[in-house]
Order: sequence, then structure tokens, then C-alpha cells
Amino acid sequence: MNVLLTGGMGYIGSHTAVALLQAGHRVVLYDNLCNSDAGVLGCIGQIVGKAPLFIQADVRDTQTLSDALTRHEIDAVAHFAGLKAVGESAQKPLAYYANNVEGTVSLLEAMTRAGVCSLAFSGSATVYGEPRYLPLDEAHPLSATNPYGRTKLHIEEMLRDLSVSDPCWRIVCLRYFNPAGAHESGLIGESPSGIPNNLLPYVARVAAGELPSLSVFGDDYPTPDGTGVRDYIHVMDLAEGHVAALDWLGGHPGCHAINLGTGQGYSVLEMVEAFAKASERAIPYQIAPRRAGDVAACYADPGKALRELGWQARRGLADMCASAWNFQRRSRETGFR
Ligand code: NAD
Ligand code: UD1
Repeated sequence: MNVLLTGGMGYIGSHTAVALLQAGHRVVLYDNLCNSDAGVLGCIGQIVGKAPLFIQADVRDTQTLSDALTRHEIDAVAHFAGLKAVGESAQKPLAYYANNVEGTVSLLEAMTRAGVCSLAFSGSATVYGEPRYLPLDEAHPLSATNPYGRTKLHIEEMLRDLSVSDPCWRIVCLRYFNPAGAHESGLIGESPSGIPNNLLPYVARVAAGELPSLSVFGDDYPTPDGTGVRDYIHVMDLAEGHVAALDWLGGHPGCHAINLGTGQGYSVLEMVEAFAKASERAIPYQIAPRRAGDVAACYADPGKALRELGWQARRGLADMCASAWNFQRRSRETGFR
């Protein structure tokens, strides 16, 4: 299959490119590099033996996108491109609607022009809002508590409307839980610019001595140790979930939602302990007030992915922490993030 990956130079896109290439597919990466580095291309090349094709452009450039789809005889698109910082989305909502929602409209227009109708969309468990029950299955009611989440919700609704309007569409919204870890080579991984918002990249920098200590946001949640519980999923498992989903889409018209999670929740303190063990470093932390918008616990029912895609996560917490630490150390050595 020839697959175009919008946002393919980013964290999840680059790992998915590796998994697709290793499964024998051809890929074209399409990215404006607003949150990634051109050096990722060479790293993917080092892992798989040959750098993939890369087009530096914005998804809102509909003509360039539709030309790329036609020229490279694309069969399916994996749509990762978007902005993802929850806090920033509250300060700059229009940038989020323009990038995420308008960007997706442009992609769908380009796909229509080029006659490409298979799409895997980067959804998020954030569309479940405050959990009414756990584990979260795909039938759980949807809501959003911040502009980032609302862009994900609007896009899902748009995709459902589109699939009803024309039966040729084959769309899957992959609702990711908490992606973590890196490729085992340590060449690609998560490298947020500035101070990380998410737990694991923050902990990695504390372990490396680049940040003094971790603030644990709340220890009074109704969870076993009082700290927030999340479903962390190894990014290579997530990447392989995309390969399975794109294969599956061929025989499944319509618009589908599928969770990509492990079904297992870990608390912040369990994550700190696992990372300290993997890195053999102390992780100093202090308890801080709850972070606005956080829920106590969030984890997936991953049953549909297994039933439909034949996919389930294979890698555990130790692997996530070890690979994230390996990437942290390598990127410090090479100076590349
Ligand atoms: P990322 O920022 O590392 O990757 C996104 C890529 O898209 C970047 O390389 C960026 O340069 C590119 N991009 C952004 N806007 C673009 C545009 N208008 N045109 C072309 N390229 C553009 O993020 P990620 O963690 O790899 O996330 C990928 C997708 O998965 C996002 O849509 C995100 O919302 C979603 N998601 C991520 C997480 C997570 O925790 N990482 C969780 C749930 C959902
Ligand atoms: C966050 C976003 C979510 C997004 C996801 C992936 C919020 C409210 N939610 O999810 O919409 O889809 O990232 O990008 O921002 N924690 C600390 N200290 C820290 C950082 C985090 O204690 O410095 C805790 C949090 O309170 C939470 C857990 O670690 O309990 C995981 O946090 P994080 O990695 O930010 O992910 P989510 O909050 O689940």
C-alpha cells in the first residue's frame, strides 16, 4: 500500500512510518515542520535502511496535497498533522481550529479531488471527557472540556457526516490513550520544545538532571495511591495499531471509532518508580495542587481493537520507560531532539 502521512515527521507519525515501512508499505511524509525537525527523516532512514519521501508543506495547501496524493499514487492517508497542547489551545483557540479543523477540511477536499477515500485519523481519548464509567469503550458519551478536545470532537463529527454523504469513504478514528516511549534505536522519540506538559517527557528530563524535580499534580484523587491514573501505551504498539487499522480499512466502508490503549492504568507515582528503575536515577518530586481539567482515572477498553483489527499492545511499562530513557540519553549525546 502507498500511504501518505500528514504530520509524518512528528512523534507518532515518525514511529508509524517505521512500522509501515517495516511491514512492506511505501510511505510519503507530508509535514510543515511546525513541531518537528528535518533530521527525523535521516533517523527513519537509519532505522529502515532508506529515507522515505518527504514533502515540506502545510495540510491547508489543498492543491499541493492533492497533487502529492495523485503523483505518488496514494491508497490511504494517516492524518497526524495538528496542534496538540491543551493549555495553548485555551490561549490560541483560533490557531487550533485553523490548524486542526480547517487542516482536516483541506485534506478531505484534496482526497476527494485525488479519489483517495481511506483515512486513519489521529483521535484522542480526550473526546470521552470526564469518564462516566471505566474502562472507556467506544460507546461512552463524547464531550470536550477544552478547545483542543473540541477540535478532535468536531473532526470526528465531520468525518461521520462525510461518510454518510458518500459510501466510498473508509475512515477510522483511532482514539489514542497516552502514547509513551520511543523506538528501541533511540533515534526517534518524543521531543517537545520547551518545558514538557506531559508526564513521561517531563520525568525523563528530571532523570537527566535537566529539570530539578517533578510536580505531582494532586495526591487526593479516588485512586489507589491518590495520584492520577492513565493508560500509557508504547508508541511502537500505537504505530503497529495504525498498520493493522489501514489494512483493515480496505474491507470496511463507513466511519469507525477504535480505541488504541492497553486497558491497564498506572498512577503518576507508579510511573515515577518505573522510570527511576529504568534509568537508575532518582526522580525527585513534590506533591502539587491538582491541574485544572485533569480527571482521576482514564483507561481504555481495548476489546474492539482486538476483535476488529486483531491488534493488541504487546509492550509493557518497563519497555516504555527504558526506550524513553534511551532516547533522552541519545538525543543529549547527538544534540538532536
Ligand atoms: P507532534 O506534534 O509530534 O506531530 C504532529 C506533526 O504535525 C508535527 O510534525 C507538525 O510539524 C505537523 N503539523 C502540524 N500542523 C501541520 C500542518 N498544518 N500542516 C502540516 N504539518 C503539520 O504530535 P504527535 O504527538 O505525533 O501527535 C500526532 C497526532 O496525534 C496529533 O493530531 C495529536 O493531536 C494526536 N494525539 C496525540 C497524543 C499524544 O499524547 N501525543 C494523544 C492523542 C492524540
Ligand atoms: C493530556 C491532555 C490530553 C491529551 C494528552 C496527550 C490535559 C488536561 N490533558 O492528557 O487532552 O490528549 O495529554 O497529549 O492536559 N502529571 C503530573 N505532573 C506533570 C505532568 C503530568 O503529575 O508534570 C500527571 C497528570 O496530572 C496526569 C498524568 O500525569 O494524572 C498524565 O498527564 P499527561 O501526560 O499530561 O497526560 P493527560 O493529562 O492524561
